[in-house]
Amino acid sequence: MAKVLFLPSNREIEIRGEPSLLELALKNKINLEHSCGGSGSCGTCHVFVTSKAGPLAERSDVEAAMALDRGFSTEERLACQLDPVDQMIVRVPDYTD
Ligand code: FES
Repeated sequence: MAKVLFLPSNREIEIRGEPSLLELALKNKINLEHSCGGSGSCGTCHVFVTSKAGPLAERSDVEAAMALDRGFSTEERLACQLDPVDQMIVRVPDYTD
């Protein structure tokens, strides 16, 4: 079964068809800010993501524009714009967890 590890809570959560990391987190009571409701316009859902399974998916157009504007690092992603994939490790910044 496919799972995502959330840090710093160290909770491993099974993916059950959730369309985004944000939905996976919220459904499992992991506190993640999401001021715009997942449209990709606020940036409050940003997390740091790595994967043991290989490269992450490309950024969506809206995420790519924000990443450029705000100088996101390679690992800094919008949880509302990224599909959860097996073996992802997601570090939630201190101020949202
Ligand atoms: S919830 Fe606003 S950018 Fe993700």
